Amino acid sequence: MILVTGATGGIGRRVVRLLRQQEKLVRAFVRLNSHYGELEHRGSEIFIGDLRQQEDIQKACRGVQYIISAHGSDGDALSLDYRANVELIDQAKANGVQHFVFISVLGADRGYEDAPVFKAKRAVERYLEASGLNYTILRPAGLASNLLPLAERFRETGLYLLIGDPKNRTSIVSTDDLARIVVDSLTTEGARNQTLPVGGPKILSRGEIPKIFGRIFNKEPLVINPPLFAVDGFRGALGLINPQTQQALGTFRTLLANEFFCTKDEVANLERIFNFQLETLETFVRRYLAV
Ligand SMILES: NC(=O)c1ccc[n+]([C@@H]2O[C@H](COP(=O)([O-])OP(=O)(O)OC[C@H]3O[C@@H](n4cnc5c(N)ncnc54)[C@H](OP(=O)(O)O)[C@@H]3O)[C@@H](O)[C@H]2O)c1
Repeated sequence: MILVTGATGGIGRRVVRLLRQQEKLVRAFVRLNSHYGELEHRGSEIFIGDLRQQEDIQKACRGVQYIISAHGSDGDALSLDYRANVELIDQAKANGVQHFVFISVLGADRGYEDAPVFKAKRAVERYLEASGLNYTILRPAGLASNLLPLAERFRETGLYLLIGDPKNRTSIVSTDDLARIVVDSLTTEGARNQTLPVGGPKILSRGEIPKIFGRIFNKEPLVINPPLFAVDGFRGALGLINPQTQQALGTFRTLLANEFFCTKDEVANLERIFNFQLETLETFVRRYLAV
């Protein structure tokens, strides 16, 4: 039995699909209000709970051989990115789990002080490395599926909002490729006890993304490019009303202010370990939006 947290999320949903295509037994950890009909329809066992509750995690882990941690933090890095993962790791040990896959984030090891998600991910990576479990830690760059709503809006309006420096580099990864890497990590010898950066095959400047959309939809992009200090101003004002959201925005700001890309060698290493070629952002968007 394979437990998947975040099973209704961008990565988790694709992971469950692949596992069920391989007829693996899957327990999908979902919240009562999540849209989990598809997971059930595909034959997953549905476990309804909340990752903020230790007892729910304990029950969900009973009798599982593999754990894939793919949940997000809902703005609460301490409870979800940190505590829930530590509990999952403890329960993995208690249940004799054979392999634990953890979705971290590219740059988790760079010591960004103002980014709670990055700090929580790094602390969990360390905890997992020291746990004695077999593990794979994946550190993805931005996911291509996050850009689909932006691409749809671009198709209608030609508009693209780009906050911060358009020269910053990124290597957006196909969410389908990442899901495949997650699933194959459970059984691929070369992925065992590895921490792997995961990015797409092309390093792009953020300013190239609207150009790609322009090419796909045959439309001249109109880029709205507010500077980063606009976010800082907004964040400062928000802090007066809601300090918790202000803190969570630190992660968002870190993502906008820095570069997140994989080197050619890192991508070649992934392709060698998992034995397939990663797709580009352009191919991903064309596939989903049928252009
Ligand atoms: N998106 C990116 O570009 C990116 C890049 C690098 C790393 N990552 C990491 O990859 C992981 C997955 O990202 P994603 O984009 O696939 O996430 P996502 O689409 O935002 O989905 C988050 C998932 O977590 C679940 N969840 C949130 N709070 C929960 C709770 N209290 N109890 C149970 N489930 C809860 C959500 O359930 P509901 O359906 O109920 O909301 C959803 O299934 C995250 O750890 C993220 O940090 C993401």
